[in-house]
Amino acid sequence: MILVTGATGNVGRNVVLQLLEAGETVRALTRDPEKAAFPAEVEVVAGDIADPQSLPPALKGVDRAFLFPVFGQLDGFLDVAKASGVEHIAMLSSSAIEFDDPGFIGQVHLECENAVTGSGIPRTFVRAGLFMLNDRGWAPQIRATGVVRTAYGTAAAAPVDERDIAAVATASLLDPRDGSVHSLTGPESLTQIDRVRIIGEVLGKPVAFEELSREEALSHLVQQMPPDAAEFLLDQLASWQGVTAEVLPTVEQVTGRPAHTYAQWVEHHVADFS
Ligand SMILES: NC(=O)c1ccc[n+]([C@@H]2O[C@H](COP(=O)([O-])OP(=O)(O)OC[C@H]3O[C@@H](n4cnc5c(N)ncnc54)[C@H](OP(=O)(O)O)[C@@H]3O)[C@@H](O)[C@H]2O)c1
Repeated sequence: MILVTGATGNVGRNVVLQLLEAGETVRALTRDPEKAAFPAEVEVVAGDIADPQSLPPALKGVDRAFLFPVFGQLDGFLDVAKASGVEHIAMLSSSAIEFDDPGFIGQVHLECENAVTGSGIPRTFVRAGLFMLNDRGWAPQIRATGVVRTAYGTAAAAPVDERDIAAVATASLLDPRDGSVHSLTGPESLTQIDRVRIIGEVLGKPVAFEELSREEALSHLVQQMPPDAAEFLLDQLASWQGVTAEVLPTVEQVTGRPAHTYAQWVEHHVADFS
Protein backbone atom coordinates (compact mmCIF):
# COMPACT_ATOMS: atom_id res chain seq x y z
CA MET A 1 0.00 0.00 0.00
CA ILE A 2 1.38 3.40 -1.00
CA LEU A 3 0.18 6.57 0.73
CA VAL A 4 0.22 9.71 -1.41
CA THR A 5 0.13 12.99 0.51
CA GLY A 6 -0.40 16.21 -1.41
CA ALA A 7 -2.63 13.94 -3.49
CA THR A 8 -5.04 16.69 -4.50
CA GLY A 9 -2.11 18.85 -5.65
CA ASN A 10 -0.54 19.25 -9.06
CA VAL A 11 2.28 16.75 -8.55
CA GLY A 12 0.57 14.41 -6.08
CA ARG A 13 -2.49 13.89 -8.29
CA ASN A 14 -0.20 12.70 -11.08
CA VAL A 15 1.65 10.41 -8.64
CA VAL A 16 -1.70 8.83 -7.71
CA LEU A 17 -2.63 8.25 -11.36
CA GLN A 18 0.79 6.91 -12.34
CA LEU A 19 0.94 4.51 -9.39
CA LEU A 20 -2.52 3.20 -10.33
CA GLU A 21 -1.31 2.72 -13.90
CA ALA A 22 1.60 0.70 -12.50
CA GLY A 23 -0.89 -1.57 -10.70
CA GLU A 24 -0.19 -0.34 -7.15
CA THR A 25 -2.73 -0.02 -4.34
CA VAL A 26 -2.99 3.68 -3.54
CA ARG A 27 -4.33 5.60 -0.56
CA ALA A 28 -4.69 9.38 -0.97
CA LEU A 29 -4.44 11.76 1.98
CA THR A 30 -6.31 15.05 2.02
CA ARG A 31 -7.59 17.44 4.64
CA ASP A 32 -10.90 17.52 2.83
CA PRO A 33 -12.04 14.20 1.35
CA GLU A 34 -15.35 15.81 0.25
CA LYS A 35 -13.52 17.88 -2.35
CA ALA A 36 -11.12 15.15 -3.55
CA ALA A 37 -12.08 13.51 -6.84
CA PHE A 38 -10.13 10.33 -7.59
CA PRO A 39 -10.75 7.15 -9.55
CA ALA A 40 -12.91 4.69 -7.58
CA GLU A 41 -10.01 2.33 -6.81
CA VAL A 42 -8.20 5.02 -4.78
CA GLU A 43 -8.87 4.89 -1.05
CA VAL A 44 -9.27 8.49 0.14
CA VAL A 45 -8.44 9.23 3.79
CA ALA A 46 -8.77 12.38 5.86
CA GLY A 47 -5.64 13.64 7.56
CA ASP A 48 -3.58 16.73 8.23
CA ILE A 49 0.21 16.48 8.16
CA ALA A 50 0.31 19.31 10.73
CA ASP A 51 -1.93 17.28 13.09
CA PRO A 52 -0.18 13.96 13.87
CA GLN A 53 -3.18 12.65 15.83
CA SER A 54 -5.12 12.55 12.56
CA LEU A 55 -2.51 10.36 10.85
CA PRO A 56 -2.38 6.78 12.31
CA PRO A 57 -5.39 5.53 10.28
CA ALA A 58 -3.87 7.01 7.10
CA LEU A 59 -0.51 5.32 7.68
CA LYS A 60 -1.79 1.91 8.85
CA GLY A 61 -0.56 -0.85 6.53
CA VAL A 62 1.47 1.60 4.39
CA ASP A 63 4.92 0.48 3.25
CA ARG A 64 5.82 3.41 0.97
CA ALA A 65 4.77 7.07 0.90
CA PHE A 66 4.97 10.14 -1.32
CA LEU A 67 5.48 13.07 1.04
CA PHE A 68 4.43 16.64 0.31
CA PRO A 69 6.80 19.09 2.07
CA VAL A 70 4.56 20.93 4.51
CA PHE A 71 7.13 23.41 5.77
CA GLY A 72 8.14 22.98 9.42
CA GLN A 73 5.42 20.40 10.07
CA LEU A 74 6.85 17.00 9.10
CA ASP A 75 8.11 15.62 12.41
CA GLY A 76 4.74 14.31 13.60
CA PHE A 77 4.06 12.63 10.25
CA LEU A 78 7.51 11.02 10.32
CA ASP A 79 7.04 9.70 13.87
CA VAL A 80 3.75 8.06 12.91
CA ALA A 81 5.23 6.74 9.64
CA LYS A 82 8.13 5.16 11.50
CA ALA A 83 5.86 3.58 14.10
CA SER A 84 3.66 2.25 11.27
CA GLY A 85 6.60 0.54 9.56
CA VAL A 86 6.88 2.74 6.45
CA GLU A 87 9.92 1.46 4.53
CA HIS A 88 10.51 4.25 2.01
CA ILE A 89 9.54 7.90 1.54
CA ALA A 90 9.85 9.85 -1.70
CA MET A 91 9.61 13.54 -0.82
CA LEU A 92 8.92 16.41 -3.18
CA SER A 93 11.71 18.94 -2.68
CA SER A 94 13.27 21.83 -4.54
CA SER A 95 16.46 22.26 -6.52
CA ALA A 96 16.75 25.71 -4.89
CA ILE A 97 18.61 23.79 -2.16
CA GLU A 98 21.52 23.52 -4.62
CA PHE A 99 21.65 27.22 -5.59
CA ASP A 100 24.56 29.38 -4.43
CA ASP A 101 21.94 31.34 -2.52
CA PRO A 102 19.18 28.85 -1.60
CA GLY A 103 17.00 31.71 -0.31
CA PHE A 104 13.73 31.17 1.53
CA ILE A 105 12.55 28.37 -0.76
CA GLY A 106 15.81 26.41 -0.54
CA GLN A 107 15.96 26.84 3.23
CA VAL A 108 12.44 25.55 3.96
CA HIS A 109 12.88 22.55 1.66
CA LEU A 110 16.27 21.76 3.22
CA GLU A 111 14.62 21.75 6.64
CA CYS A 112 12.05 19.28 5.29
CA GLU A 113 14.79 17.06 3.82
CA ASN A 114 16.69 17.17 7.12
CA ALA A 115 13.56 16.14 9.01
CA VAL A 116 13.12 13.11 6.72
CA THR A 117 16.80 12.16 6.97
CA GLY A 118 16.65 12.57 10.74
CA SER A 119 13.71 10.15 10.95
CA GLY A 120 15.95 7.33 9.71
CA ILE A 121 13.28 6.15 7.25
CA PRO A 122 14.89 5.22 3.90
CA ARG A 123 14.18 8.02 1.45
CA THR A 124 14.45 9.61 -1.98
CA PHE A 125 14.41 13.37 -2.54
CA VAL A 126 12.85 14.62 -5.77
CA ARG A 127 14.32 18.11 -6.12
CA ALA A 128 12.21 19.83 -8.73
CA GLY A 129 13.37 22.90 -10.61
CA LEU A 130 11.02 25.64 -11.73
CA PHE A 131 7.57 24.21 -12.54
CA MET A 132 6.15 24.87 -16.03
CA LEU A 133 2.90 25.20 -14.09
CA ASN A 134 4.00 28.57 -12.71
CA ASP A 135 3.28 29.95 -16.18
CA ARG A 136 -0.38 29.01 -15.77
CA GLY A 137 -0.40 32.19 -13.67
CA TRP A 138 -0.24 34.00 -17.03
CA ALA A 139 -3.46 32.38 -18.24
CA PRO A 140 -5.95 35.03 -17.02
CA GLN A 141 -3.96 37.81 -18.76
CA ILE A 142 -3.66 35.77 -21.94
CA ARG A 143 -7.38 34.99 -22.00
CA ALA A 144 -8.34 38.60 -21.22
CA THR A 145 -5.80 40.59 -23.24
CA GLY A 146 -3.52 38.31 -25.27
CA VAL A 147 -0.55 39.92 -23.49
CA VAL A 148 1.75 38.62 -20.72
CA ARG A 149 3.04 41.39 -18.51
CA THR A 150 5.87 40.46 -16.18
CA ALA A 151 9.46 41.30 -15.25
CA TYR A 152 12.76 39.96 -16.62
CA GLY A 153 11.62 38.71 -20.03
CA THR A 154 15.11 37.55 -21.01
CA ALA A 155 15.46 35.38 -17.88
CA ALA A 156 16.09 31.79 -18.99
CA ALA A 157 15.08 28.61 -17.20
CA ALA A 158 14.51 24.96 -18.05
CA PRO A 159 11.10 24.48 -16.42
CA VAL A 160 9.79 20.99 -15.76
CA ASP A 161 6.37 19.42 -16.41
CA GLU A 162 4.47 18.28 -13.28
CA ARG A 163 3.84 14.90 -14.96
CA ASP A 164 7.62 14.36 -15.13
CA ILE A 165 8.17 15.32 -11.48
CA ALA A 166 5.44 12.80 -10.60
CA ALA A 167 7.00 10.18 -12.89
CA VAL A 168 10.34 10.44 -11.09
CA ALA A 169 8.60 10.23 -7.71
CA THR A 170 6.57 7.24 -8.93
CA ALA A 171 9.69 5.46 -10.19
CA SER A 172 11.32 6.11 -6.81
CA LEU A 173 8.41 4.40 -5.06
CA LEU A 174 8.28 1.45 -7.46
CA ASP A 175 12.03 0.82 -7.16
CA PRO A 176 13.07 2.42 -3.86
CA ARG A 177 16.75 3.23 -3.44
CA ASP A 178 17.63 4.78 -0.11
CA GLY A 179 19.65 7.98 -0.30
CA SER A 180 18.73 8.88 -3.89
CA VAL A 181 18.52 12.55 -4.80
CA HIS A 182 16.97 13.37 -8.16
CA SER A 183 17.42 16.97 -9.34
CA LEU A 184 15.05 17.74 -12.18
CA THR A 185 14.77 20.26 -14.98
CA GLY A 186 12.79 20.29 -18.17
CA PRO A 187 14.43 19.47 -21.52
CA GLU A 188 15.18 22.97 -22.87
CA SER A 189 16.46 26.37 -21.80
CA LEU A 190 13.79 28.98 -22.58
CA THR A 191 13.47 32.64 -21.72
CA GLN A 192 10.13 33.95 -20.52
CA ILE A 193 9.77 35.65 -23.91
CA ASP A 194 10.39 32.26 -25.64
CA ARG A 195 7.70 30.63 -23.48
CA VAL A 196 5.14 33.30 -24.25
CA ARG A 197 5.87 32.82 -27.98
CA ILE A 198 5.40 29.02 -27.67
CA ILE A 199 2.07 29.50 -25.88
CA GLY A 200 0.94 31.64 -28.84
CA GLU A 201 2.16 29.00 -31.33
CA VAL A 202 0.23 26.22 -29.57
CA LEU A 203 -2.89 28.39 -29.24
CA GLY A 204 -2.58 29.40 -32.90
CA LYS A 205 -2.70 33.12 -32.15
CA PRO A 206 -0.01 35.62 -31.22
CA VAL A 207 0.56 36.30 -27.53
CA ALA A 208 2.62 39.41 -26.78
CA PHE A 209 5.15 39.98 -24.00
CA GLU A 210 5.29 43.30 -22.15
CA GLU A 211 8.12 43.99 -19.69
CA LEU A 212 7.12 45.15 -16.19
CA SER A 213 9.32 46.68 -13.52
CA ARG A 214 10.22 44.44 -10.57
CA GLU A 215 7.86 46.38 -8.28
CA GLU A 216 4.95 45.98 -10.68
CA ALA A 217 5.61 42.23 -11.06
CA LEU A 218 5.90 41.80 -7.28
CA SER A 219 2.49 43.33 -6.70
CA HIS A 220 0.97 40.65 -9.00
CA LEU A 221 2.99 37.72 -7.63
CA VAL A 222 2.08 38.32 -3.98
CA GLN A 223 -1.51 37.55 -4.96
CA GLN A 224 -0.36 34.00 -5.91
CA MET A 225 2.31 33.17 -3.29
CA PRO A 226 3.83 34.33 0.05
CA PRO A 227 5.86 37.59 -0.23
CA ASP A 228 9.15 35.80 0.63
CA ALA A 229 8.57 33.30 -2.16
CA ALA A 230 7.68 36.10 -4.62
CA GLU A 231 10.86 38.03 -3.76
CA PHE A 232 12.90 34.85 -4.12
CA LEU A 233 11.37 34.10 -7.52
CA LEU A 234 12.10 37.64 -8.75
CA ASP A 235 15.69 37.45 -7.45
CA GLN A 236 16.11 34.21 -9.36
CA LEU A 237 14.67 35.68 -12.56
CA ALA A 238 16.98 38.69 -12.27
CA SER A 239 20.00 36.38 -12.00
CA TRP A 240 18.88 34.27 -14.97
CA GLN A 241 18.80 37.16 -17.45
CA GLY A 242 20.92 36.52 -20.52
CA VAL A 243 22.13 33.08 -19.45
CA THR A 244 21.43 29.60 -20.83
CA ALA A 245 19.79 27.46 -18.18
CA GLU A 246 21.28 24.11 -17.23
CA VAL A 247 19.34 21.15 -18.64
CA LEU A 248 19.60 17.94 -16.59
CA PRO A 249 19.01 14.45 -18.05
CA THR A 250 17.42 13.10 -14.85
CA VAL A 251 13.83 12.67 -16.06
CA GLU A 252 14.93 10.52 -19.00
CA GLN A 253 17.50 8.62 -16.93
CA VAL A 254 14.99 7.72 -14.22
CA THR A 255 11.86 7.14 -16.33
CA GLY A 256 13.42 5.84 -19.57
CA ARG A 257 11.53 8.38 -21.72
CA PRO A 258 12.22 12.01 -22.64
CA ALA A 259 10.94 14.85 -20.48
CA HIS A 260 7.89 16.69 -21.83
CA THR A 261 8.71 19.81 -23.82
CA TYR A 262 7.20 23.19 -23.01
CA ALA A 263 4.98 22.98 -26.11
CA GLN A 264 3.65 19.59 -24.94
CA TRP A 265 2.93 21.10 -21.54
CA VAL A 266 0.97 23.97 -23.12
CA GLU A 267 -0.99 21.45 -25.23
CA HIS A 268 -1.87 19.58 -22.02
CA HIS A 269 -3.13 22.84 -20.47
CA VAL A 270 -4.59 24.45 -23.56
CA ALA A 271 -8.02 24.81 -21.92
CA ASP A 272 -6.45 27.00 -19.20
CA PHE A 273 -5.06 29.43 -21.77
CA SER A 274 -8.01 29.61 -24.18
N1 LIG B 1 6.43 26.12 -8.24
C1 LIG B 1 7.69 25.77 -8.46
O1 LIG B 1 8.36 26.24 -9.40
C2 LIG B 1 8.34 24.78 -7.52
C3 LIG B 1 9.63 24.33 -7.79
C4 LIG B 1 10.22 23.38 -6.93
C5 LIG B 1 9.51 22.91 -5.84
N2 LIG B 1 8.23 23.40 -5.61
C6 LIG B 1 7.50 22.91 -4.43
O2 LIG B 1 6.47 22.03 -4.85
C7 LIG B 1 5.41 22.14 -3.92
C8 LIG B 1 4.11 22.45 -4.67
O3 LIG B 1 3.63 21.26 -5.28
P1 LIG B 1 2.18 21.19 -5.94
O4 LIG B 1 2.08 22.27 -6.98
O5 LIG B 1 1.91 19.79 -6.33
O6 LIG B 1 1.25 21.57 -4.70
P2 LIG B 1 -0.24 22.15 -4.71
O7 LIG B 1 -0.91 21.87 -6.02
O8 LIG B 1 -0.17 23.55 -4.19
O9 LIG B 1 -0.96 21.24 -3.62
C9 LIG B 1 -0.66 21.31 -2.26
C10 LIG B 1 -0.97 19.94 -1.68
O10 LIG B 1 -0.49 19.85 -0.35
C11 LIG B 1 -1.48 19.31 0.48
N3 LIG B 1 -1.31 19.86 1.81
C12 LIG B 1 -0.95 21.13 2.15
N4 LIG B 1 -0.89 21.26 3.50
C13 LIG B 1 -1.22 20.04 4.01
C14 LIG B 1 -1.36 19.54 5.32
N5 LIG B 1 -1.15 20.32 6.40
N6 LIG B 1 -1.72 18.24 5.48
C15 LIG B 1 -1.95 17.45 4.41
N7 LIG B 1 -1.85 17.87 3.13
C16 LIG B 1 -1.49 19.15 2.94
C17 LIG B 1 -2.80 19.73 -0.15
O11 LIG B 1 -3.78 18.78 0.21
P3 LIG B 1 -5.29 19.10 0.70
O12 LIG B 1 -5.54 20.57 0.49
O13 LIG B 1 -6.16 18.22 -0.16
O14 LIG B 1 -5.31 18.69 2.13
C18 LIG B 1 -2.46 19.65 -1.64
O15 LIG B 1 -2.69 18.35 -2.12
C19 LIG B 1 5.82 23.21 -2.89
O16 LIG B 1 6.47 22.61 -1.81
C20 LIG B 1 6.79 24.02 -3.68
O17 LIG B 1 7.68 24.75 -2.87
C21 LIG B 1 7.64 24.29 -6.43
